[in-house]
Amino acid sequence: MKVPFTWKVTGWFMIGWSPEFVAGQTRALHYFGEDLVAYRGESGELHVMEAHCKHLGAHLGHGGKVIEERVECPFHGWQWGPDGCNKFIPYQPDRPNKALRLRVYPVREQHGCVFVWHHPDGAEPGWEMPDIFGKFPEFTTGPQDYYRAYPEFSRRLEGEPVHPQIVAENAADSAHFQYVHHATVTPRVLDWKMADREWHFVAGWPDENSDDPDDMALRFHSHLFGLGGAISIFEGVQQHRLIFTCTPVDEGRSDLFYSIWWPRLPGDDSDAPPEDIRRRVERQFLTTVEDDLGIWRYQRYIEHPALAKVDAKPFMTLRKWAQQFYDAPAADVVLT
Ligand code: FES
Ligand SMILES: [Fe+2]
Repeated sequence: MKVPFTWKVTGWFMIGWSPEFVAGQTRALHYFGEDLVAYRGESGELHVMEAHCKHLGAHLGHGGKVIEERVECPFHGWQWGPDGCNKFIPYQPDRPNKALRLRVYPVREQHGCVFVWHHPDGAEPGWEMPDIFGKFPEFTTGPQDYYRAYPEFSRRLEGEPVHPQIVAENAADSAHFQYVHHATVTPRVLDWKMADREWHFVAGWPDENSDDPDDMALRFHSHLFGLGGAISIFEGVQQHRLIFTCTPVDEGRSDLFYSIWWPRLPGDDSDAPPEDIRRRVERQFLTTVEDDLGIWRYQRYIEHPALAKVDAKPFMTLRKWAQQFYDAPAADVVLT
């Protein structure tokens, strides 16, 4: 998709789930147009940095070895620390090259999800990644009240032609539920507001059995953490929590990550969900992203849309809010 803004978006972005990053191993990643290496040190801490060794450019994620908290290059054995600095050169052991430094990406792991901070110039985090379970203090359920999200209730869609702003714009678009998600009643955006780096909204599904149009059978509370994604919770006939995130890979493509925390059955203390719940959630909820993708994959970005009256204000406000995450200019694109 061609868009008139950068794919090198500033913010917190999901790059995977904790169990995918095994202690003592390196992994090659590619996000924001950059080759990256992730490795979990022996302490258990996860590090993400620029992939190409500052000596002769080998990729540390392909054959690199983890030594305590350092990563050793597969080409000539130079070692790099979690601060990105050169720590050791095998053939001059007392003289590491202190001036050489790999770019480091701040990492946050929470509830099995892994996020990195990205700024196009490498600036430090401008705000903190909010906690998935701390987000809605009015709902007191904690991680122990849910089945694990990974691997059963998690999905990754790779290399989709979707910009994070397009995903975020869904937050201001209640009408698409009926058409795209085949909702039997059309939800309404009940409330929305900008909250600095976040965008908060509540959508409600009217109760079909009630004469009062303000009676809701279901409410969906959602907080966008910048353009990286949204943390959400359902209130009513469904009670699950979820995150849905979008991470740019290169100009024009993103990976999407989706995780659901489904409430545990009373008395069940197993981590993994039982088979029947697993099948139901897979069928009813994990397909939601595919619905949206059916549109996004072929959508053209319209810079000056003709909006219906109900959409206009939240939609245009959201687009304006999104501008704060563009610290780099757009690559040259011609919208056709
Ligand atoms: S290229 Fe990494 S040590 Fe030589
Ligand atoms: Fe949607």
